[in-house]
Amino acid sequence: MKTKLGLIFGGMSTENEVSVMSANSILQNLNKDKYEIYPIYITKEGDWYKYKKLDNIEIDQNLSNTEKIENIIRYLQDLDVIFPVLHGAFGEDGTIQGLFEMTKKPYVGCGVLASSVGMDKVYTKIIFNRANINQARYIYLKNYKYKYIYVDEEFNEKDITLDEIADMVENKLGFPVFTKPSNSGSSVGINKAKNKEDLKEHIKYASQFDSKILIEEGINGQEVECAVLGNEKVVASCVGEIKPAEEFYSYDAKYEDENSKTLIPANLDEKVSEEIRKLAVKAFKAIDGKGLSRVDFFVEKDTNKIYINEINTLPGFTKISMYPKLFEQVGIKYSDLLDKLIELAISL
Ligand SMILES: Nc1ncnc2c1ncn2[C@@H]1O[C@H](COP(=O)(O)OP(=O)(O)OP(=O)(O)O)[C@@H](O)[C@H]1O
Ligand SMILES: [Mg+2]
Repeated sequence: MKTKLGLIFGGMSTENEVSVMSANSILQNLNKDKYEIYPIYITKEGDWYKYKKLDNIEIDQNLSNTEKIENIIRYLQDLDVIFPVLHGAFGEDGTIQGLFEMTKKPYVGCGVLASSVGMDKVYTKIIFNRANINQARYIYLKNYKYKYIYVDEEFNEKDITLDEIADMVENKLGFPVFTKPSNSGSSVGINKAKNKEDLKEHIKYASQFDSKILIEEGINGQEVECAVLGNEKVVASCVGEIKPAEEFYSYDAKYEDENSKTLIPANLDEKVSEEIRKLAVKAFKAIDGKGLSRVDFFVEKDTNKIYINEINTLPGFTKISMYPKLFEQVGIKYSDLLDKLIELAISL
């Protein structure tokens, strides 16, 4: 008997198109002798459709080859396992994982808590701090309708003006700094500020995407990533490096600019790589991760000091994405990796 696998892609986030690319690679590499595949497309508006082709996923304006699913809960209940290939909001943040929990069906990847902690940059930092993993220093702000609130380490809140924030950033962190909406992905809403004037503009810009904003000390160094796989026993891949074509790894540098390069393995001392692999597993455990994650770090120039940046609980999954490439490098083929992830989901 084949396993009935629901492959869910698209989604209500800025990363809808990236998700379609990831799902297409997965569809083509799933073992068709093992799985009966049910592709499911979620539109940006949040409507669910069966996707009726099994060779190649192409989503056009008219939603060709699709049929609307009226009752998604009932539809999911007929499956054996669900593979969400969704990035960002409503896919990687615990919300859809909550829906899966309610259907009582196993699903690939992290549960509700790990997904939502991993998606929220402020809360990720709070957990990493608790786990004593070194990271860039930061300031946490909230914004409500043009009013800014500074939130201190004990979650006390204080109204603050943009000028006061700029002074605080200069004193506490120094420039450059990165401004980030706490919930985002694919670098949307993120900017690098080199002075107070830019910073104030960037805070206003980030505020459009989320009411929680993170201002983070800029780290000058290599940007490296490590993939992890497992539930209770977790393995780490080798470490890979990204070389953004632009000043930082912005949305365009990630998906549009062909000059962004990846290097596997990363150009690092063996000791540093080993430490990163350990920290990747530690970070995954700290957020209570399951299945998979890609953990991103900076290695500071000259000092070789390691800073954790973030954890992505549903990383990009095209054939050329970092997650599968890192495992391929250590001998796990793409289609075997998919089998492994599905096994891990079912075994929980
Ligand atoms: N503190 C920092 N120091 C130096 N560079 C940074 C820092 N924070 C972010 N960057 C740069 O900005 C990019 C985007 O930041 P970050 O990885 O936090 O965002 P993201 O939107 O979550 O990306 P992802 O798609 O990986 O989830 C990083 O890849 C890096 O190039
Ligand atoms: Mg990132």
